[in-house]
Amino acid sequence: MHHNSFILVITIILFASILSLFQPSSSLKIGETCSMDVENQCDAGLRCGTCPASGNTRPRCTRVKPISPTSKVNGLPFNRYSWLTTHNSYALSGSKSPEGSPVLGPANQEDDVASQLRNGVRGLMLDMYDFNNDIWMCHSFGGKCYNITAYQPAINVLREILKFLEANPTEIVTVFIEDYVTSPDGLTKVFSASGLTRYMFPLSRMPRDGGDWPTVTDMVTQNQRLLVFTSKSTKEASESIAYEWSFVVENQYGNEGQVSGSCRNRSESSAMNTTSRSLVLQNFFSTNPNVTGACIDNSASLISMTKTCQQAAGGRWPNYIAVDFYQRSDGGGAPEAVDIANGYLTCGCPNIAYCRTNATFGTCDIPVLSPPPPAQLQLDDSNESFGGFGLISFAIHTTAQPRWLYFTIFTTLILLGI
Ligand SMILES: *[C@@H]1O[C@H](CO)[C@@H](O)[C@H](O)[C@H]1NC(C)=O
Ligand SMILES: *[C@@H]1O[C@H](CO)[C@@H](O)[C@H](O)[C@H]1NC(C)=O
Ligand SMILES: *[C@@H]1O[C@H](CO)[C@@H](O)[C@H](O)[C@H]1NC(C)=O
Ligand SMILES: *[C@@H]1O[C@H](CO)[C@@H](O)[C@H](O)[C@H]1NC(C)=O
Ligand SMILES: *[C@@H]1O[C@H](CO)[C@@H](O)[C@H](O)[C@H]1NC(C)=O
Ligand SMILES: *[C@@H]1O[C@H](CO)[C@@H](O)[C@H](O)[C@H]1NC(C)=O
Repeated sequence: MHHNSFILVITIILFASILSLFQPSSSLKIGETCSMDVENQCDAGLRCGTCPASGNTRPRCTRVKPISPTSKVNGLPFNRYSWLTTHNSYALSGSKSPEGSPVLGPANQEDDVASQLRNGVRGLMLDMYDFNNDIWMCHSFGGKCYNITAYQPAINVLREILKFLEANPTEIVTVFIEDYVTSPDGLTKVFSASGLTRYMFPLSRMPRDGGDWPTVTDMVTQNQRLLVFTSKSTKEASESIAYEWSFVVENQYGNEGQVSGSCRNRSESSAMNTTSRSLVLQNFFSTNPNVTGACIDNSASLISMTKTCQQAAGGRWPNYIAVDFYQRSDGGGAPEAVDIANGYLTCGCPNIAYCRTNATFGTCDIPVLSPPPPAQLQLDDSNESFGGFGLISFAIHTTAQPRWLYFTIFTTLILLGI
Protein backbone atom coordinates (compact mmCIF):
# COMPACT_ATOMS: atom_id res chain seq x y z
CA MET A 1 0.00 0.00 0.00
CA HIS A 2 1.20 3.54 -0.84
CA HIS A 3 2.30 5.73 2.02
CA ASN A 4 -0.18 8.45 0.96
CA SER A 5 -3.21 6.21 0.94
CA PHE A 6 -2.22 4.87 4.36
CA ILE A 7 -2.32 8.42 5.74
CA LEU A 8 -5.62 8.98 4.00
CA VAL A 9 -7.11 5.86 5.59
CA ILE A 10 -5.94 6.92 9.07
CA THR A 11 -7.35 10.40 8.52
CA ILE A 12 -10.72 9.05 7.45
CA ILE A 13 -10.86 6.68 10.43
CA LEU A 14 -10.05 9.51 12.84
CA PHE A 15 -12.58 11.81 11.20
CA ALA A 16 -15.26 9.13 11.30
CA SER A 17 -14.59 8.30 14.95
CA ILE A 18 -14.86 11.94 15.95
CA LEU A 19 -18.10 12.31 13.99
CA SER A 20 -19.58 9.21 15.58
CA LEU A 21 -18.88 10.71 18.99
CA PHE A 22 -21.17 13.57 18.13
CA GLN A 23 -24.01 11.36 16.89
CA PRO A 24 -26.82 11.41 19.46
CA SER A 25 -27.33 8.02 21.10
CA SER A 26 -31.00 8.07 20.08
CA SER A 27 -32.41 9.50 16.93
CA LEU A 28 -35.77 8.05 16.02
CA LYS A 29 -38.82 10.33 16.00
CA ILE A 30 -42.44 9.60 16.90
CA GLY A 31 -44.00 7.04 14.56
CA GLU A 32 -40.68 5.83 13.17
CA THR A 33 -39.96 2.11 13.13
CA CYS A 34 -37.82 0.94 16.02
CA SER A 35 -36.67 -2.32 17.51
CA MET A 36 -38.19 -3.56 20.79
CA ASP A 37 -34.85 -5.22 21.66
CA VAL A 38 -32.71 -2.08 21.58
CA GLU A 39 -32.75 0.35 24.52
CA ASN A 40 -33.00 4.14 24.12
CA GLN A 41 -33.34 4.07 20.36
CA CYS A 42 -36.18 6.56 20.19
CA ASP A 43 -35.78 10.25 20.98
CA ALA A 44 -36.14 11.45 24.58
CA GLY A 45 -39.69 11.17 25.87
CA LEU A 46 -40.52 8.30 23.51
CA ARG A 47 -40.34 4.53 23.79
CA CYS A 48 -40.59 1.70 21.30
CA GLY A 49 -43.96 -0.03 21.36
CA THR A 50 -46.73 -1.73 19.43
CA CYS A 51 -50.48 -1.82 19.87
CA PRO A 52 -51.52 -5.21 18.50
CA ALA A 53 -55.03 -4.75 19.94
CA SER A 54 -55.66 -1.99 17.39
CA GLY A 55 -53.75 -3.70 14.57
CA ASN A 56 -50.58 -1.67 15.01
CA THR A 57 -47.96 -4.40 14.91
CA ARG A 58 -45.10 -2.34 13.50
CA PRO A 59 -42.91 -1.30 16.48
CA ARG A 60 -42.82 2.46 16.43
CA CYS A 61 -41.63 5.22 18.73
CA THR A 62 -44.58 6.26 20.91
CA ARG A 63 -44.81 9.07 23.40
CA VAL A 64 -44.50 8.58 27.14
CA LYS A 65 -43.75 12.19 28.16
CA PRO A 66 -45.88 15.30 27.78
CA ILE A 67 -44.39 18.69 26.91
CA SER A 68 -43.62 20.65 30.08
CA PRO A 69 -46.33 23.34 29.86
CA THR A 70 -44.35 25.85 31.92
CA SER A 71 -41.47 25.59 29.45
CA LYS A 72 -43.83 27.20 26.93
CA VAL A 73 -46.06 29.46 28.99
CA ASN A 74 -44.93 30.11 32.53
CA GLY A 75 -46.40 32.05 35.42
CA LEU A 76 -50.12 31.29 35.06
CA PRO A 77 -52.36 30.27 37.97
CA PHE A 78 -51.94 26.56 38.80
CA ASN A 79 -55.45 25.76 37.55
CA ARG A 80 -54.43 26.90 34.06
CA TYR A 81 -52.29 23.80 33.49
CA SER A 82 -52.95 20.13 32.84
CA TRP A 83 -50.89 17.27 34.29
CA LEU A 84 -50.42 13.65 33.34
CA THR A 85 -51.69 11.53 36.24
CA THR A 86 -51.21 7.85 36.97
CA HIS A 87 -54.01 5.78 38.50
CA ASN A 88 -52.64 3.54 41.30
CA SER A 89 -49.15 4.83 40.57
CA TYR A 90 -47.57 2.37 43.02
CA ALA A 91 -49.23 -0.79 41.65
CA LEU A 92 -46.44 -2.11 39.46
CA SER A 93 -46.46 -5.31 37.49
CA GLY A 94 -44.21 -7.94 39.06
CA SER A 95 -44.58 -6.55 42.59
CA LYS A 96 -43.88 -8.86 45.53
CA SER A 97 -45.79 -8.77 48.82
CA PRO A 98 -43.80 -8.36 52.06
CA GLU A 99 -43.64 -12.16 52.36
CA GLY A 100 -42.16 -12.48 48.89
CA SER A 101 -45.17 -13.94 47.11
CA PRO A 102 -46.70 -12.05 44.16
CA VAL A 103 -49.26 -9.39 45.07
CA LEU A 104 -52.80 -10.47 44.35
CA GLY A 105 -54.60 -8.80 41.49
CA PRO A 106 -53.55 -6.95 38.37
CA ALA A 107 -51.11 -4.05 38.24
CA ASN A 108 -51.92 -0.58 36.88
CA GLN A 109 -48.47 0.70 35.89
CA GLU A 110 -45.16 -0.67 34.65
CA ASP A 111 -42.52 1.65 36.08
CA ASP A 112 -41.95 3.06 39.55
CA VAL A 113 -42.93 6.53 40.72
CA ALA A 114 -39.38 7.88 40.31
CA SER A 115 -39.47 6.86 36.65
CA GLN A 116 -43.00 8.20 36.20
CA LEU A 117 -41.90 11.58 37.54
CA ARG A 118 -38.93 11.61 35.15
CA ASN A 119 -41.40 11.00 32.34
CA GLY A 120 -43.42 14.06 33.24
CA VAL A 121 -46.14 12.47 35.38
CA ARG A 122 -47.21 15.13 37.91
CA GLY A 123 -50.33 13.60 39.47
CA LEU A 124 -50.13 10.42 41.55
CA MET A 125 -53.09 8.43 42.83
CA LEU A 126 -52.06 6.52 45.93
CA ASP A 127 -54.15 4.17 48.09
CA MET A 128 -53.02 4.34 51.72
CA TYR A 129 -53.87 1.92 54.52
CA ASP A 130 -52.92 1.20 58.11
CA PHE A 131 -50.84 -1.99 57.93
CA ASN A 132 -48.02 -3.58 59.94
CA ASN A 133 -48.04 -0.67 62.42
CA ASP A 134 -47.26 1.66 59.54
CA ILE A 135 -48.91 3.24 56.49
CA TRP A 136 -48.78 1.12 53.33
CA MET A 137 -49.73 1.41 49.68
CA CYS A 138 -52.20 -1.41 49.10
CA HIS A 139 -54.69 -2.31 46.43
CA SER A 140 -57.19 -3.94 48.67
CA PHE A 141 -60.86 -4.36 49.55
CA GLY A 142 -63.13 -3.73 52.53
CA GLY A 143 -60.92 -0.88 53.69
CA LYS A 144 -58.29 -3.30 55.02
CA CYS A 145 -54.86 -4.22 53.74
CA TYR A 146 -53.61 -7.82 53.74
CA ASN A 147 -50.24 -9.42 53.08
CA ILE A 148 -51.38 -10.39 49.60
CA THR A 149 -52.68 -6.89 48.70
CA ALA A 150 -49.77 -4.90 50.17
CA TYR A 151 -47.39 -3.29 47.67
CA GLN A 152 -44.96 -1.36 49.82
CA PRO A 153 -44.64 1.00 52.80
CA ALA A 154 -45.99 4.43 51.80
CA ILE A 155 -42.79 6.11 52.90
CA ASN A 156 -40.84 4.47 50.06
CA VAL A 157 -42.99 6.18 47.44
CA LEU A 158 -43.11 9.46 49.38
CA ARG A 159 -39.30 9.49 49.45
CA GLU A 160 -39.20 9.10 45.68
CA ILE A 161 -41.38 12.21 45.45
CA LEU A 162 -39.11 14.04 47.88
CA LYS A 163 -36.02 13.22 45.82
CA PHE A 164 -37.74 14.49 42.70
CA LEU A 165 -38.86 17.77 44.30
CA GLU A 166 -35.37 18.34 45.68
CA ALA A 167 -33.71 17.69 42.33
CA ASN A 168 -36.26 19.71 40.32
CA PRO A 169 -36.87 23.00 42.14
CA THR A 170 -39.45 24.35 39.65
CA GLU A 171 -41.67 21.26 39.44
CA ILE A 172 -45.03 20.83 41.18
CA VAL A 173 -46.50 17.43 42.08
CA THR A 174 -50.03 16.50 43.21
CA VAL A 175 -50.89 13.45 45.31
CA PHE A 176 -54.46 12.11 45.46
CA ILE A 177 -54.84 9.80 48.45
CA GLU A 178 -57.52 7.14 48.44
CA ASP A 179 -57.50 7.25 52.20
CA TYR A 180 -58.20 4.22 54.40
CA VAL A 181 -55.95 5.41 57.22
CA THR A 182 -57.71 5.60 60.59
CA SER A 183 -54.72 5.71 62.94
CA PRO A 184 -54.52 9.13 64.65
CA ASP A 185 -52.50 11.60 62.56
CA GLY A 186 -51.43 8.66 60.40
CA LEU A 187 -50.97 10.71 57.23
CA THR A 188 -49.29 13.60 59.03
CA LYS A 189 -46.79 11.19 60.58
CA VAL A 190 -45.84 9.43 57.36
CA PHE A 191 -45.50 12.67 55.37
CA SER A 192 -43.44 14.12 58.16
CA ALA A 193 -41.19 11.04 58.35
CA SER A 194 -40.65 11.21 54.59
CA GLY A 195 -39.43 14.82 54.73
CA LEU A 196 -42.22 16.02 52.41
CA THR A 197 -44.08 18.23 54.90
CA ARG A 198 -42.02 21.32 54.12
CA TYR A 199 -43.06 21.19 50.44
CA MET A 200 -46.79 20.89 51.14
CA PHE A 201 -49.05 23.61 49.80
CA PRO A 202 -51.08 24.81 52.81
CA LEU A 203 -54.81 24.13 52.97
CA SER A 204 -55.38 27.75 54.01
CA ARG A 205 -54.13 28.99 50.61
CA MET A 206 -56.40 26.76 48.52
CA PRO A 207 -59.26 28.68 46.86
CA ARG A 208 -62.69 27.51 48.04
CA ASP A 209 -64.84 29.84 45.96
CA GLY A 210 -63.78 28.65 42.53
CA GLY A 211 -61.20 31.38 42.24
CA ASP A 212 -57.80 31.03 40.62
CA TRP A 213 -55.04 29.17 42.43
CA PRO A 214 -51.79 31.00 43.12
CA THR A 215 -49.51 31.11 40.09
CA VAL A 216 -46.96 28.38 39.52
CA THR A 217 -44.25 31.03 39.94
CA ASP A 218 -45.60 31.84 43.39
CA MET A 219 -45.79 28.17 44.36
CA VAL A 220 -42.20 27.67 43.20
CA THR A 221 -40.90 30.80 44.94
CA GLN A 222 -42.56 29.78 48.22
CA ASN A 223 -41.45 26.19 47.67
CA GLN A 224 -45.05 25.01 48.20
CA ARG A 225 -44.76 22.48 45.41
CA LEU A 226 -46.67 19.49 46.74
CA LEU A 227 -50.47 19.41 46.63
CA VAL A 228 -52.03 16.67 48.75
CA PHE A 229 -55.70 15.74 48.58
CA THR A 230 -57.44 13.07 50.63
CA SER A 231 -60.70 11.24 49.98
CA LYS A 232 -61.66 11.55 53.69
CA SER A 233 -63.42 14.83 54.49
CA THR A 234 -62.62 14.62 58.22
CA LYS A 235 -58.89 15.03 57.59
CA GLU A 236 -59.33 18.74 56.85
CA ALA A 237 -60.31 19.41 60.45
CA SER A 238 -58.05 16.81 62.05
CA GLU A 239 -54.84 17.11 60.00
CA SER A 240 -55.31 20.15 57.70
CA ILE A 241 -55.16 17.89 54.65
CA ALA A 242 -57.42 19.07 51.85
CA TYR A 243 -60.57 17.06 51.14
CA GLU A 244 -60.26 16.43 47.43
CA TRP A 245 -63.84 17.20 46.44
CA SER A 246 -63.85 20.57 48.16
CA PHE A 247 -61.46 21.68 45.42
CA VAL A 248 -61.73 19.22 42.54
CA VAL A 249 -64.53 17.87 40.37
CA GLU A 250 -63.93 14.40 39.03
CA ASN A 251 -65.75 12.16 36.58
CA GLN A 252 -66.73 8.52 37.05
CA TYR A 253 -63.82 6.05 36.90
CA GLY A 254 -63.77 2.52 35.48
CA ASN A 255 -65.86 1.14 32.61
CA GLU A 256 -68.82 3.39 33.49
CA GLY A 257 -66.53 6.36 32.89
CA GLN A 258 -65.56 5.10 29.45
CA VAL A 259 -68.96 5.41 27.81
CA SER A 260 -68.36 7.53 24.75
CA GLY A 261 -70.06 10.94 24.84
CA SER A 262 -70.78 10.93 28.58
CA CYS A 263 -68.71 12.50 31.35
CA ARG A 264 -70.60 12.54 34.64
CA ASN A 265 -69.32 13.11 38.15
CA ARG A 266 -68.22 10.24 40.37
CA SER A 267 -70.47 9.92 43.40
CA GLU A 268 -68.19 11.78 45.82
CA SER A 269 -67.76 14.75 43.46
CA SER A 270 -70.04 17.68 42.71
CA ALA A 271 -71.40 17.88 39.18
CA MET A 272 -68.63 18.40 36.61
CA ASN A 273 -69.79 21.93 35.86
CA THR A 274 -69.57 23.08 39.49
CA THR A 275 -67.37 26.14 39.11
CA SER A 276 -66.84 26.62 42.84
CA ARG A 277 -64.26 23.82 42.42
CA SER A 278 -61.38 25.24 40.40
CA LEU A 279 -59.73 21.97 39.42
CA VAL A 280 -61.04 19.31 37.02
CA LEU A 281 -59.85 15.71 37.06
CA GLN A 282 -60.55 13.32 34.23
CA ASN A 283 -60.38 9.57 34.87
CA PHE A 284 -60.07 7.27 31.88
CA PHE A 285 -59.26 3.63 32.61
CA SER A 286 -61.17 0.37 32.66
CA THR A 287 -62.53 -1.30 35.81
CA ASN A 288 -60.16 -4.25 35.41
CA PRO A 289 -56.70 -2.97 34.50
CA ASN A 290 -55.93 -4.24 31.02
CA VAL A 291 -52.37 -3.86 29.78
CA THR A 292 -53.20 -4.99 26.24
CA GLY A 293 -56.27 -2.77 25.99
CA ALA A 294 -54.56 0.28 27.51
CA CYS A 295 -52.90 1.29 24.23
CA ILE A 296 -56.39 1.66 22.72
CA ASP A 297 -57.86 3.42 25.75
CA ASN A 298 -54.92 5.86 25.90
CA SER A 299 -55.23 6.88 22.24
CA ALA A 300 -58.12 8.33 20.20
CA SER A 301 -60.83 7.45 22.74
CA LEU A 302 -58.96 9.28 25.52
CA ILE A 303 -58.73 12.46 23.46
CA SER A 304 -62.37 12.16 22.50
CA MET A 305 -63.36 11.79 26.18
CA THR A 306 -61.14 14.73 27.13
CA LYS A 307 -63.27 16.88 24.81
CA THR A 308 -66.48 15.40 26.21
CA CYS A 309 -65.35 16.15 29.77
CA GLN A 310 -64.32 19.67 28.77
CA GLN A 311 -67.93 20.26 27.63
CA ALA A 312 -69.39 18.63 30.75
CA ALA A 313 -67.16 20.69 33.02
CA GLY A 314 -68.61 23.94 31.68
CA GLY A 315 -65.93 24.51 29.06
CA ARG A 316 -63.02 23.70 31.36
CA TRP A 317 -60.17 21.48 30.16
CA PRO A 318 -59.04 18.87 32.68
CA ASN A 319 -56.18 19.82 35.00
CA TYR A 320 -55.44 16.16 35.57
CA ILE A 321 -55.76 13.27 33.12
CA ALA A 322 -55.55 9.94 34.96
CA VAL A 323 -54.83 6.67 33.17
CA ASP A 324 -53.54 3.13 33.67
CA PHE A 325 -50.32 2.02 31.92
CA TYR A 326 -49.58 5.60 30.92
CA GLN A 327 -46.74 4.53 28.61
CA ARG A 328 -49.04 2.49 26.38
CA SER A 329 -50.61 3.99 23.26
CA ASP A 330 -50.48 3.72 19.50
CA GLY A 331 -48.70 7.03 19.05
CA GLY A 332 -49.24 10.23 21.02
CA GLY A 333 -51.06 8.58 23.91
CA ALA A 334 -51.97 10.20 27.21
CA PRO A 335 -49.10 12.73 26.80
CA GLU A 336 -50.84 14.03 23.69
CA ALA A 337 -54.17 14.41 25.51
CA VAL A 338 -52.34 16.43 28.18
CA ASP A 339 -50.60 18.55 25.50
CA ILE A 340 -53.98 19.30 23.93
CA ALA A 341 -55.48 20.35 27.26
CA ASN A 342 -52.42 22.49 27.98
CA GLY A 343 -52.63 24.16 24.57
CA TYR A 344 -56.19 25.33 25.20
CA LEU A 345 -55.53 26.17 28.84
CA THR A 346 -52.31 28.16 28.48
CA CYS A 347 -52.30 29.82 25.05
CA GLY A 348 -55.60 29.12 23.32
CA CYS A 349 -54.03 26.76 20.76
CA PRO A 350 -55.13 23.17 20.04
CA ASN A 351 -51.83 21.82 21.43
CA ILE A 352 -49.15 23.19 23.75
CA ALA A 353 -46.64 22.41 20.98
CA TYR A 354 -48.24 25.20 18.92
CA CYS A 355 -47.97 27.85 21.63
CA ARG A 356 -45.56 30.65 20.81
CA THR A 357 -43.47 31.90 23.72
CA ASN A 358 -44.91 35.16 25.16
CA ALA A 359 -47.34 35.56 22.27
CA THR A 360 -50.88 36.94 22.54
CA PHE A 361 -53.43 34.29 23.61
CA GLY A 362 -54.64 32.49 20.48
CA THR A 363 -51.51 33.07 18.38
CA CYS A 364 -50.52 29.59 17.22
CA ASP A 365 -47.79 27.98 15.10
CA ILE A 366 -49.63 25.02 13.63
CA PRO A 367 -47.28 22.78 11.61
CA VAL A 368 -48.21 21.05 8.35
CA LEU A 369 -48.46 17.34 9.14
CA SER A 370 -47.06 14.63 6.89
CA PRO A 371 -49.10 11.42 6.49
CA PRO A 372 -48.43 8.80 9.17
CA PRO A 373 -46.36 5.70 8.36
CA PRO A 374 -48.22 2.38 7.84
CA ALA A 375 -49.68 0.57 10.83
CA GLN A 376 -48.44 -2.92 9.96
CA LEU A 377 -44.88 -4.08 9.95
CA GLN A 378 -44.21 -4.96 6.28
CA LEU A 379 -41.94 -7.93 6.74
CA ASP A 380 -42.37 -11.24 5.01
CA ASP A 381 -39.34 -13.47 5.28
CA SER A 382 -40.71 -16.03 2.83
CA ASN A 383 -40.69 -13.43 0.04
CA GLU A 384 -37.15 -12.76 -1.14
CA SER A 385 -37.70 -9.53 -2.99
CA PHE A 386 -39.92 -7.78 -0.45
CA GLY A 387 -38.79 -9.44 2.80
CA GLY A 388 -35.14 -8.89 2.03
CA PHE A 389 -35.65 -5.24 1.21
CA GLY A 390 -37.71 -4.68 4.35
CA LEU A 391 -35.01 -6.19 6.54
CA ILE A 392 -32.26 -4.09 4.99
CA SER A 393 -34.09 -0.80 5.33
CA PHE A 394 -35.01 -1.74 8.91
CA ALA A 395 -31.37 -2.52 9.71
CA ILE A 396 -30.14 0.77 8.30
CA HIS A 397 -32.74 2.60 10.29
CA THR A 398 -31.88 0.98 13.58
CA THR A 399 -28.14 1.41 13.26
CA ALA A 400 -27.93 5.06 12.37
CA GLN A 401 -25.19 5.64 14.90
CA PRO A 402 -22.39 3.31 13.71
CA ARG A 403 -23.14 4.16 10.08
CA TRP A 404 -19.88 6.14 9.90
CA LEU A 405 -17.86 3.19 11.05
CA TYR A 406 -19.27 1.02 8.28
CA PHE A 407 -18.55 3.79 5.83
CA THR A 408 -14.99 3.93 7.09
CA ILE A 409 -14.41 0.20 6.79
CA PHE A 410 -15.91 0.25 3.31
CA THR A 411 -13.64 3.15 2.24
CA THR A 412 -10.63 1.46 3.79
CA LEU A 413 -11.28 -1.69 1.83
CA ILE A 414 -11.52 0.27 -1.43
CA LEU A 415 -8.31 2.15 -0.67
CA LEU A 416 -6.48 -1.05 0.25
CA GLY A 417 -7.55 -2.39 -3.09
CA ILE A 418 -5.87 0.53 -4.91
C1 LIG B 1 -48.16 -11.67 56.88
O1 LIG B 1 -46.74 -11.57 56.72
C2 LIG B 1 -46.02 -11.54 57.92
C3 LIG B 1 -44.54 -11.41 57.57
O2 LIG B 1 -44.31 -10.31 56.78
C4 LIG B 1 -46.29 -12.80 58.75
O3 LIG B 1 -45.63 -12.67 59.99
C5 LIG B 1 -47.79 -12.96 58.97
O4 LIG B 1 -48.04 -14.17 59.60
C6 LIG B 1 -48.53 -12.91 57.65
N1 LIG B 1 -49.95 -12.94 57.88
C7 LIG B 1 -50.75 -13.79 57.29
C8 LIG B 1 -52.20 -13.69 57.65
O5 LIG B 1 -50.36 -14.59 56.45
C1 LIG C 1 -72.74 12.72 41.31
O1 LIG C 1 -72.99 11.42 40.76
C2 LIG C 1 -73.78 10.57 41.55
C3 LIG C 1 -73.92 9.27 40.81
O2 LIG C 1 -72.70 8.60 40.81
C4 LIG C 1 -75.09 11.16 41.89
O3 LIG C 1 -75.82 10.33 42.75
C5 LIG C 1 -74.87 12.50 42.55
O4 LIG C 1 -76.09 13.11 42.81
C6 LIG C 1 -74.03 13.38 41.68
N1 LIG C 1 -73.81 14.65 42.33
C7 LIG C 1 -74.17 15.75 41.75
C8 LIG C 1 -73.96 16.99 42.52
O5 LIG C 1 -74.59 15.78 40.60
C1 LIG D 1 -74.58 21.42 35.02
O1 LIG D 1 -74.70 20.07 34.62
C2 LIG D 1 -75.95 19.49 34.93
C3 LIG D 1 -75.84 18.02 34.52
O2 LIG D 1 -74.91 17.36 35.33
C4 LIG D 1 -77.07 20.22 34.20
O3 LIG D 1 -78.31 19.67 34.57
C5 LIG D 1 -77.03 21.70 34.59
O4 LIG D 1 -77.95 22.40 33.83
C6 LIG D 1 -75.64 22.27 34.34
N1 LIG D 1 -75.59 23.62 34.85
C7 LIG D 1 -75.13 24.63 34.16
C8 LIG D 1 -75.10 25.96 34.85
O5 LIG D 1 -74.72 24.49 33.02
C1 LIG E 1 -58.36 -6.10 27.26
O1 LIG E 1 -58.43 -5.29 26.11
C2 LIG E 1 -58.47 -6.02 24.90
C3 LIG E 1 -58.38 -5.04 23.75
O2 LIG E 1 -59.32 -4.01 23.87
C4 LIG E 1 -59.76 -6.83 24.88
O3 LIG E 1 -59.80 -7.59 23.68
C5 LIG E 1 -59.79 -7.74 26.07
O4 LIG E 1 -61.03 -8.41 26.13
C6 LIG E 1 -59.60 -6.97 27.36
N1 LIG E 1 -59.46 -7.88 28.46
C7 LIG E 1 -60.16 -7.74 29.58
C8 LIG E 1 -59.89 -8.76 30.66
O5 LIG E 1 -60.99 -6.87 29.75
C1 LIG F 1 -41.04 36.02 27.92
O1 LIG F 1 -41.42 36.93 28.93
C2 LIG F 1 -40.68 36.82 30.13
C3 LIG F 1 -41.26 37.77 31.17
O2 LIG F 1 -41.82 38.89 30.58
C4 LIG F 1 -39.21 37.11 29.83
O3 LIG F 1 -38.44 36.97 31.01
C5 LIG F 1 -38.71 36.13 28.78
O4 LIG F 1 -37.38 36.42 28.43
C6 LIG F 1 -39.59 36.15 27.54
N1 LIG F 1 -39.18 35.09 26.64
C7 LIG F 1 -39.03 35.27 25.32
C8 LIG F 1 -38.55 34.10 24.54
O5 LIG F 1 -39.28 36.33 24.78
C1 LIG G 1 -43.45 -11.78 -3.42
O1 LIG G 1 -44.33 -10.64 -3.30
C2 LIG G 1 -44.77 -10.16 -4.56
C3 LIG G 1 -45.59 -8.89 -4.30
O2 LIG G 1 -46.49 -9.06 -3.25
C4 LIG G 1 -45.57 -11.22 -5.26
O3 LIG G 1 -46.00 -10.75 -6.54
C5 LIG G 1 -44.73 -12.48 -5.44
O4 LIG G 1 -45.50 -13.53 -6.00
C6 LIG G 1 -44.17 -12.92 -4.07
N1 LIG G 1 -43.26 -14.04 -4.28
C7 LIG G 1 -43.28 -15.11 -3.49
C8 LIG G 1 -42.24 -16.15 -3.77
O5 LIG G 1 -44.08 -15.24 -2.56
